[in-house]
Amino acid sequence: MRSRRKSKGPIVIVASVVATLFVAGMASEIWRVAASADDLKPDVSLSAFMRKKLESSSTILEGLTVEDSEMIVRGAKELLQLSKVEKWQVFVDSEYREYSDGFRTNVKKLEEAGKKGNFDNAALQWFDTMKSCVECHQHVRNERAKNK
Ligand code: HEC
Repeated sequence: MRSRRKSKGPIVIVASVVATLFVAGMASEIWRVAASADDLKPDVSLSAFMRKKLESSSTILEGLTVEDSEMIVRGAKELLQLSKVEKWQVFVDSEYREYSDGFRTNVKKLEEAGKKGNFDNAALQWFDTMKSCVECHQHVRNERAKNK
């Protein structure tokens, strides 16, 4: 093996930074929307449930940064489980289901890459997964705005 480890450094670092910004930005965005909607009672348990995605995401992120495939797989499994729980189905429209399916597809690819110890591919699948997070939240916000 020629210095493969070395070549993976930059992409993982870039992946981590971008992903962290994504997650942080997203959390504050959602919080702002929820806080500004007077008619929206804060459902603490739903909020706590949704926030578990952040924990699993940071497990994955840590796995990517230290090249620990077990952490990537564990975080991905958690995300998959969360997405199958009834609480996840806050909305029942077909679009929300499509976003959920797309999210799961990306998480599964991430899990596979993690299992294979393919960290470059895992970093790419992480981007797609993060994109799914952001896009679903955008959808949710748009729907909320429409129904006001
Ligand atoms: C299929 C849609 C969907 C996907 C994909 C999704 N979420 Fe969410 N998320 C939601 C919904 C719905 C809420 C609740 C929004 C609300 O109540 O305003 C939410 C809320 C949140 C919250 C705010 C919790 C709070 O109230 O404090 C965070 C943080 C969050 N999600 C993180 C993530 C992360 C990280 C990912 C990706 C790993 C992700 N989500 C993927 C639908 C999704």
